[in-house]
Amino acid sequence: MDSKSDELSICSFDRISNRCPGAGSHFVPVFVDIDKNCQLCLSEVEKAISPRTKAVVAVHYAGQCCEVDTLADICNRHGIFLIEDAAQAFLSTYKGRYLGTFGDFGCFSFHYTKNTICGEGGALLINQEIFVKRAHVVQEQGTNRFDFINNRVSKYEWVDIGSSYVSNELSATFLVAQLQDAWYCSRRRRCVVRLYQLFLEPLLDNGHIKRMIREIKNVSCNGHLFWFVLHEKDLPGFQNFMESKGIVCYSHYEPLHVSPAGLKYSKTASICMENTVQTAKNLLRLPVWVGMTHIDVFRVLSSVLEYFSDFEISLASVKEEFDRKMRDEHSGR
Ligand SMILES: Cc1ncc(COP(=O)(O)O)c(C=O)c1O
Repeated sequence: MDSKSDELSICSFDRISNRCPGAGSHFVPVFVDIDKNCQLCLSEVEKAISPRTKAVVAVHYAGQCCEVDTLADICNRHGIFLIEDAAQAFLSTYKGRYLGTFGDFGCFSFHYTKNTICGEGGALLINQEIFVKRAHVVQEQGTNRFDFINNRVSKYEWVDIGSSYVSNELSATFLVAQLQDAWYCSRRRRCVVRLYQLFLEPLLDNGHIKRMIREIKNVSCNGHLFWFVLHEKDLPGFQNFMESKGIVCYSHYEPLHVSPAGLKYSKTASICMENTVQTAKNLLRLPVWVGMTHIDVFRVLSSVLEYFSDFEISLASVKEEFDRKMRDEHSGR
């Protein structure tokens, strides 16, 4: 991306950090709407692609994804790059293939909010050989230090743009241990998410909640988070009620296309950004953490159900399901 008129299609319901490099490297983020699963809307992406478009960024929200193989085909057809923001999707798969491996680049985060963590850190998968050499330079502050370390040059010098992207050794050491347990962490989180889905399904059926994370065909999710969308009228009351029970339910991203910097530096391609706006306004997350026990899950679930005062569940039923789901996770079902 070299010219000021280069564009990058991306959803507006996303983490700010994805846009900052955009502003820094002078390309224009072009926002498109998300679908009901909070994933990039493919029909909107197609409409947004112009001769200036150089890449599409697919954010795999909640460890799930859009039809990313179809998106890769669209990008190929238009001769543009596909960048997968798989920050939340480490170990998730689509049609049996890891997310982050469909595009030209796959980006992972090991930020402390993720399933696998090292404080601050991440990984970049480069799925095209030709970009690897330059990535080493960009990672090493724009120098050919990587060649120097590998005895290919006697001194290193400034050769290109770059910054200091190399992780420090303490974080990297922490990450090694985290990676060894990555599957375990993912299984436990997935178990919690599935229990929420199972016991809260009736709230969807009777219209108390509008939407929630559901299983998407061909996606095996890493259980990163549990989201649901409430009716606007319920939002403050629900959050206060949960807080009175000692349970914090966070919202998530604010739409970037109407943020002060978004208005200044970006364009919006979708005529209607309704899914983005409504989701951002009314989406909440329930606690998901690797160390949650069936008692914690019960406490969350019974509080949610108590707020809507329609249902009751027993600790025994949650325990039974918790044990069953953990067994299923272990046997890979
Ligand atoms: C979807 C998404 N993209 C990007 C990021 C940024 O990750 P990092 O803070 O490791 O750069 C995050 C982290 O919260 C994220 O959730």
